[in-house]
Formats: sequence, C-alpha cells, structure tokens
Amino acid sequence: MDPYKMVISCTNQKGGCAKTTTAVNIATALAEGKKEMGIEPAKVLLIDLDPQGNASTSFGIDKSKLDRTVYDLLMNDLGEELPIIEDYLIAPEIITDSMQQTWRQSNPDKKMPKSIKVENLWLLPSNIQLSGAEIELATRIGRETRLKEGLASAIQEFDYIIIDTPPSLGLLTINALAASNWVLIPVQTEWYALEGMSQLMNSIKLIQRRINPHLKLFGIALTMYQRSNLGNTVSSEVRKHFEKQVFSTMIPRRIQIADAPMEGVPVVILNNPNTRKHKGSQAYWSLAKEVSRRVKKLRHKHGIKETSRLKMHKIKHDLD
Ligand SMILES: Nc1ncnc2c1ncn2[C@@H]1O[C@H](COP(=O)(O)OP(=O)(O)OP(=O)(O)O)[C@@H](O)[C@H]1O
Ligand SMILES: [Mg+2]
Repeated sequence: MDPYKMVISCTNQKGGCAKTTTAVNIATALAEGKKEMGIEPAKVLLIDLDPQGNASTSFGIDKSKLDRTVYDLLMNDLGEELPIIEDYLIAPEIITDSMQQTWRQSNPDKKMPKSIKVENLWLLPSNIQLSGAEIELATRIGRETRLKEGLASAIQEFDYIIIDTPPSLGLLTINALAASNWVLIPVQTEWYALEGMSQLMNSIKLIQRRINPHLKLFGIALTMYQRSNLGNTVSSEVRKHFEKQVFSTMIPRRIQIADAPMEGVPVVILNNPNTRKHKGSQAYWSLAKEVSRRVKKLRHKHGIKETSRLKMHKIKHDLD
C-alpha cells in the first residue's frame, strides 16, 4: 500500500449530521491552506459520492449539465484497463467560475470578495443518476471495490482525497470505505447522535475484516453544536466514549454555514475567519488545522518525507 495515501471518507449513515458541509469545508480549507495557522496548501480531490449531489451544489455546480460524474467512473467497463481519473474531474478554474457566477446571482449589488476562488481543489461530481448505481452495481464483478479501482491512479496525484458519502451504509458507502484508509465521522450534538454509532462502528469493523484491512478511524467531529445542557451532555458523552479521537474543535450551529451552499461558496472562503462574527468559518478552519496536524504527525511517524503533490504539480507545470 502507498504510505502517502490519504483517502478520507466523511461518513455517518445518519442523515443531516453535516457530512457534506464538513467534507466540503475541510477539502476547501486544506486546498487553500493558511500560513498563519500552519496549514500548507495541498492538492485536494473532493469526491461527491451522494446521489443528492450536495457537495457539487455547494460550489454552485449545475448538476444537470455534467458531462461525466462519479457514476460513469463506477460503471465503466474498460475490461483490463482502468479509467483515467482526469477525464472525470472538474478543475479548479471551472469550480472558481461556478462559485463566482452563483455568488453574483445571489448578490447582484455587492462587490465580490477576492477570496472566492480555489486553486488546488478538484471535484469528482455526482448527480441523481448515481441513485441507480446501487442496483446496477449489485450484479457487477468487484462491485464493492469499483471506486477503489477508479481512484488507483489518483492516489499518487493528490495530497488528500476526501469522499462525501450518502446517509446509508449501502453499496456506495461501502465503495467509499473500501477505497479509503481513513474515516472521519461527523456527529451532530443532539439526542439521537449516539444511537447509530454502534451500527456504524460495526460496519467499519466488517469492512476492515472483509474488504479493507487498512481502514482506520481518523477522527470524530462534533457538529451543529449549540450551547445548552443537551449540547454539553452529548458532546461530553461522545468525548468520554471516543476520547482523543474526537477533535477539540466543535462546529457551532450558525446560519452562515447553512446559507453558504445557496451562495455556491464554502463558508471557509466565503466568510473571513479573522472576523469575530464569522464563527462558522473560524471553526471549520480550526478543524482543518487539526486535520492537517494529524496528517503531518502520521506522515512523520511513518517516515514519509515526500514532496507535497501540490509542489510537484507546480514544478511540473513550470517545466511544461
Ligand atoms: N454548523 C451548522 N450550522 C447551521 N447549519 C448547518 C451546519 N452544518 C450543516 N448545516 C446545515 O444542515 C443541513 C444538513 O447538513 P449537511 O447537508 O452537511 O448534512 P449531511 O450529513 O451531508 O446530510 P445528508 O445525510 O442528507 O447527506 C444543511 O442544510 C446544512 O447547510
Ligand atoms: Mg450530505
């Protein structure tokens, strides 16, 4: 296995616990980087593996106009050949155009913030067509490892691959977990949050045993936190149970986070995190910092001193 590999599935079969919001903002923040926080910019691929296509919409992507999606990558039948991943990706320039256009439509009279751009983020989009994949894949050979095969060539190309999964433990999520070496679990700080956790942990164990022994828990992120007895009780329960695996950052419930997809721009670049009122953006940057630190430590522990893929990409680009 490639030791540089950093494929993180953002998973929880519970609906609406901020999987997409977390995947989108972490991917964007890691790609952009922030020197003062010690986050080096990285080459990031975000995969939308949910037929709802919410991760794609978060960047204002028009899902009805996509040429190729993750569905085509999963369903392709090239025989012995593996698909060329670049053919399926939306490049940073196109993501930037799409964010800027969507933002202008929602804010016709305002001056556009300079921050609305991405340089190092690629997107493998999805749309409703993917909803057929679970059934169509059921009879195909290698149905659980189709995504893993499709991504084989991308592992070498990106510093991070982050996968947003649907709210189920069906074949799509299994494909995500089979292709990943890490799983990040967003947990909404509300009463039923822990109910599905044992089922999720069991599924992860099953996948480890049967399909992917390299899969490990990367961390648990507490989301939509509201200061209240309930919020505090749930978060301390989760911390008691999962200890150090829970990130220190708690993502607060903020209207700006909920509104960001409407403007087609992830909150981490829509709202200036240095402004006190933008606590949502601040919190996701702080979570991204924890993620990048964990990754740095892991790579250090395994003696990996490779040049970041972003730097390699830039050098190659300059030479061409
Ligand atoms: N911290 C937050 N504060 C306010 N609203 C939030 C926050 N995080 C997410 N939301 C909103 O809550 C809803 C659910 O979030 P999101 O789509 O990220 O969850 P999900 O787990 O991906 O959902 P699904 O299971 O349907 O895929 C969205 O409308 C999102 O904008
Ligand atoms: Mg989602």
